[in-house]
Amino acid sequence: MVNRANPPQLRLVFLAMIVALIMAACGGQPTTQLPTADARALFTYISQSSPYKQWGTWPKDQWNDFTTLLKSGAPHGGVVRIYVNDIALAAAKDFKGQLPEGSIIVKENYTGNDPAQPGSLDALTVMYKVKGYDPEHNDWFWAKVKPDGQVDAEGKVGMCYGCHAQPGNKDYVLRYGFGSEPAVISAAVEPQQMP
Ligand code: HEC
Repeated sequence: MVNRANPPQLRLVFLAMIVALIMAACGGQPTTQLPTADARALFTYISQSSPYKQWGTWPKDQWNDFTTLLKSGAPHGGVVRIYVNDIALAAAKDFKGQLPEGSIIVKENYTGNDPAQPGSLDALTVMYKVKGYDPEHNDWFWAKVKPDGQVDAEGKVGMCYGCHAQPGNKDYVLRYGFGSEPAVISAAVEPQQMP
């Protein structure tokens, strides 16, 4: 029998197999890769890739217990619930003045006015920190989406960060003060039109 060298095509196949094996060994792409600064991509992420209802929330402080529905007000729902992803929660323990890139805060807005009778879910308002996205406003991407994913507002929404910049905010966060008194203890400050 003639012992012939492997034809070039076969070598390519081997090479591809080795590359695939190395990638598999390194873990490949994480299945929950963060989304781009786009409300639809963000909605897919928080509803499917990394469902926000499985996230944690801010630690309880003397002003709020974030594990429950909270009383709020215009322009957000009369009842809200806040969820925070792991990236933000890890940084919140030793808060340095700004949350890191990849931080996501999801707020459920309900139609009712009483946490005991919250009504139905009306919208999700979301803050998502994307490096370099809007350096003048701490790189937050803002979005308001309906429960079915319909987008009401997204991007550098002046109305969102305008109100969230009120005195006492910490990195535009209003309801949680990272150990100190938050800018807003309970309901919203002044009624204003939401998009
Ligand atoms: C007129 C003021 C106002 C406007 C406009 C506003 N917010 Fe808020 N937002 C608040 C207040 C007050 C809170 C805290 C009280 C609460 O929990 O409802 C809050 C809380 C939040 C939170 C939870 C994190 C935090 O700051 O405590 C998110 C997320 C959020 N808003 C997103 C948005 C988005 C997205 C928009 C724009 C589409 C927006 N907000 C517009 C007043 C505002």
